This record gives sequence, C-alpha cells and structure tokens, in this order.
Amino acid sequence: PLFSDVSLFLLCVVRDDDEDMADSAHSCTGRRVFSHEERRAIGGAVERLGLQLLENLPIGPQQPNVVLSPLSVAFGLAQLTLGAHGETEKLLLRSLHADTVPCYHQILGSLVPHFSNTSLDVATRMYLRPGFEVKLSFIEDSLSRYQSLPVPLVSVEEVNQWVENVTKGHIPNFLESIPHDVVLMLMNAVYFKGEWQTQFDPSVTSKGVFYLDSQNSVSVDMMKSAHYPLRLLDDPELEAQVASFPFKGNTTFLVVQPLLGRRNVSSVLSKLNISDLYRRLPQEKRMQVNLPRVKLQYRQELQEALSSLGLSSLFSGPDLSGISDRPLRVTGVRHASTVELSEEGVEASATTVVTSMRSVSLFSVNSPFVFTLVDDASLTPLFMGVVTNPAPDNAPMLNDDPHSNVTMSDQPVTNI
Ligand SMILES: *[C@@H]1O[C@H](CO)[C@@H](O)[C@H](O)[C@H]1NC(C)=O
Ligand SMILES: *[C@@H]1O[C@H](CO)[C@@H](O)[C@H](O)[C@H]1NC(C)=O
Ligand SMILES: *[C@@H]1O[C@H](CO)[C@@H](O)[C@H](O)[C@H]1NC(C)=O
Ligand SMILES: *[C@@H]1O[C@H](CO)[C@@H](O)[C@H](O)[C@H]1NC(C)=O
Ligand SMILES: *[C@@H]1O[C@H](CO)[C@@H](O)[C@H](O)[C@H]1NC(C)=O
Ligand SMILES: *[C@@H]1O[C@H](CO)[C@@H](O)[C@H](O)[C@H]1NC(C)=O
Repeated sequence: PLFSDVSLFLLCVVRDDDEDMADSAHSCTGRRVFSHEERRAIGGAVERLGLQLLENLPIGPQQPNVVLSPLSVAFGLAQLTLGAHGETEKLLLRSLHADTVPCYHQILGSLVPHFSNTSLDVATRMYLRPGFEVKLSFIEDSLSRYQSLPVPLVSVEEVNQWVENVTKGHIPNFLESIPHDVVLMLMNAVYFKGEWQTQFDPSVTSKGVFYLDSQNSVSVDMMKSAHYPLRLLDDPELEAQVASFPFKGNTTFLVVQPLLGRRNVSSVLSKLNISDLYRRLPQEKRMQVNLPRVKLQYRQELQEALSSLGLSSLFSGPDLSGISDRPLRVTGVRHASTVELSEEGVEASATTVVTSMRSVSLFSVNSPFVFTLVDDASLTPLFMGVVTNPAPDNAPMLNDDPHSNVTMSDQPVTNI
C-alpha cells in the first residue's frame, strides 16, 4: 500500500427557463468484447482530454500542482452525453475526442469491469431531486453503460458521506451545500491504491533538494534507491527524461521531467504522447533513483477549463432533452483528486542502500515534472498531474546557498 490516488467528479444540472427539443438515437449496442486496438483508441481519446484540461488549468505560485483523473472526467462527461442531443451532443463528443472513435460509450463503459483486474475502483452515482422526472432511457443507459445507480438526493450530508465512503476517507466534506434548483448530480469517484513492483526502503528516505527553477529550491523527503530497475528514456526532442515505474497489477507510473532551464512542464504537455513514449522506452536497467515522497490534494471547479475546450454552451443553454423535456443547464463541474507517493511500509527490498555512489546512472526526480498513471492494456491515463512544487509549505531557498546540502548527485538534470 503505497501509492494512493483518489478522484471525484461532480456535475450539477439545474432547471432552466428556455425550452428546446430534439431527438436522436444512440446506436452501437450489443457488443461486450472489444479489441486491444479499440481500447487503445479510447485510451488515446481520454489522454487528449486530460492533456487539454491540464493545459487549461491554472498553475502558478498559488496552485503549484495539478492533479486530475482524465478517466473520471471522461466518465462524467460521457454520461452527460447520453442525455444530450443535437449540437450539445456533438460538442460533448468532440471534446471527449469520441467523435472519431466508434462505440465510444460501450468501450469506455467496458473498461469499468476491466479495471477490477487492476488496483482501481470506480464508483458512480446519479443523485436525483425527488419530484424531478428523468427520462427512463437516460437512467437505463447510464446504468447499463456506466453502472451509474439512480439515488434520491436527500441531503448534502448523505452525499458527502457517500463521497467519503467511496474515496476511503480521502475526500471529506466535498460539498458545502446543494442549491435548491439542482435537480440532478452525476458523480463518480476513482480510487487507486497500488504497490510498486519494486518498493523503496523507508529507512533510506531522507531530505533532498527539489529545484523549483534555476534560482530556487525546496527541501523535500526523497525516497531513494541505489539499484532501482527503471526504464529510462532521454528524449532529445521533448528535451525531457521519461521514466516508468511499474505497479503490481498492470498499471504504470510515468514521469516526464523536462530539462531544467531548457523546457518547462507547460511546453512538454503540448507534445506529450503516452503511447509513443511507451513504445520507445528502453529495457529496464538498475540505477540510482530519487523520487520525492509527496501528498497532493487538489480541488478545482472545471467550468472555465471546459469552456476553453469549447463547452461553454453547457453552462448557458444546452440541449439535454435526453434527460428531461424540462429545460436544464449545467451549473457545477467539480473535481477533487488526491495523490500520494510513498514507499512500502515494511517490506523493504534488499537492494536499496543509497549512500553507495557506485551506480553509473542516476534518475533524480528533483525538478518540476509531469506524471501520469496509466493502465498498461488500454494506455488510458487514470490520473495525470503536474508537480512544480512538491512541498509548497516549505520556504524556498536559493540554489547557490552555500549552506544548502546540494551534492553532485542531486544536481538538476540539465543535459542529456
Ligand atoms: C500518439 O502518436 C500516434 C502516432 O505515433 C498517434 O496515432 C496517436 O493518436 C497519438 N496519441 C495522442 C494522444 O496524441
Ligand atoms: C481479468 O483477468 C483475468 C485473468 O487475467 C481474465 O481472465 C479476465 O477476463 C479479466 N477480466 C476482465 C474484466 O478484464
Ligand atoms: C457509508 O458507509 C457506512 C459504513 O459502511 C454505511 O453504513 C453508510 O450507509 C454509507 N453511506 C453512504 C451514503 O454510502
Ligand atoms: C498483467 O501483467 C502480467 C505480466 O506482467 C500478465 O501476465 C497478466 O496477464 C496481466 N494481467 C492482465 C489482467 O492484463
Ligand atoms: C514555458 O516555456 C514556454 C516556451 O517554451 C514559454 O512561452 C512559457 O512562458 C513558459 N512557461 C512558464 C510557466 O515558464
Ligand atoms: C544539511 O545537512 C545537515 C546534516 O546532514 C543538517 O544538519 C542541515 O540542517 C542541512 N542543511 C540544510 C539547509 O538543509
């Protein structure tokens, strides 16, 4: 139990005053089994959505780290799409990058049982205001495709209790209140708790330096290993180092660390392609590895980011006539994620002694990085994030501070 990741997605739908009607059918039913290529296509669509969101979410001194679950957001928006018609449906499918993927709903939905083979739990719920009439087809589609159970909306306490339950306590007090005009809430939670295939020895974890930029650094707890089996790629085009840390159970934690001073996380995001990196990662080699022990908590309203993805009409006058004939409008899209990176508690591997400096190679995650937690089979990014400061509460120090404990092996990566 060492890496845990939680995410929650909420979408609120309210009554509105305009009226509109449309009709269309969702086809592509019947199939249950999908090919490797079809799942990869979904993985790519979820990845594009995740990258676009990351590029549109604010990162700065106030909010130095961003964590989200592209999978969770895709589930939420895809479920809304089941109730959308006309232009709204088209826009949603386009922003999900689903317009080019046949059987999108079926394949995405089929990933839920697939994930039960990994360390991932997905919980989905649809809260309905009593008295609000929802079309039966929307309930049926949501249930059969995304296993989203309709539940009466009774109180904010009950909703928060459910959230806390399904995120194993990681996301308490999710909502402060529920406005009276909210008639429908689509929610899903993604919970991942994995074990590194090769664990870190907690007795070796010690303070290390994390370079915020070429002038400043902070002190962080660094997990260390002298002989960690790692697939490490120096990518001259991306101007970044890419490393894969496998988990037990067919998921991989991928770190992309841009060369400090040459590239930054934002400029790497626009070029990231997970399947391409996967293909190019070399054989694993044992080397010295430093990885910060971090706990990131992130909460964000996604309206603005989704609007920049072209979905602003969801919040003004969408066509959700597949949900109800009464006019509806989306008012809230909230996402909460936590990510924790740590060593294994007791079972330390025998090969980890860090003071030995004999390893030829070193991979030190000691400057801003992009990460993604990927399902190996479909290459779907379960979580993605940007870490520019793993210890925002610690005071920054100057890099050339003669009193700081910078050693040669801790130098930021500046060349390949
Ligand atoms: C990654 O690149 C491959 C071609 O190398 C392309 O087929 C795929 O669509 C790209 N994926 C994304 C998410 O851009
Ligand atoms: C889970 O894994 C087992 C064995 O690896 C496989 O037989 C089964 O089909 C998998 N289930 C899903 C839903 O992928
Ligand atoms: C939360 O979990 C407790 C204990 O398992 C259970 O009694 C309760 O009904 C759950 N609440 C919700 C809202 O899921
Ligand atoms: C997980 O990976 C192992 C090899 O690492 C493989 O044997 C197994 O079939 C995979 N399981 C699934 C469910 O893909
Ligand atoms: C990242 O680098 C690009 C140029 O490659 C630059 O335009 C941008 O301002 C940089 N962003 C940050 C946050 O430094
Ligand atoms: C440097 O390390 C020494 C002991 O290893 C410690 O006492 C000191 O506080 C460290 N200084 C900084 C700036 O981290």
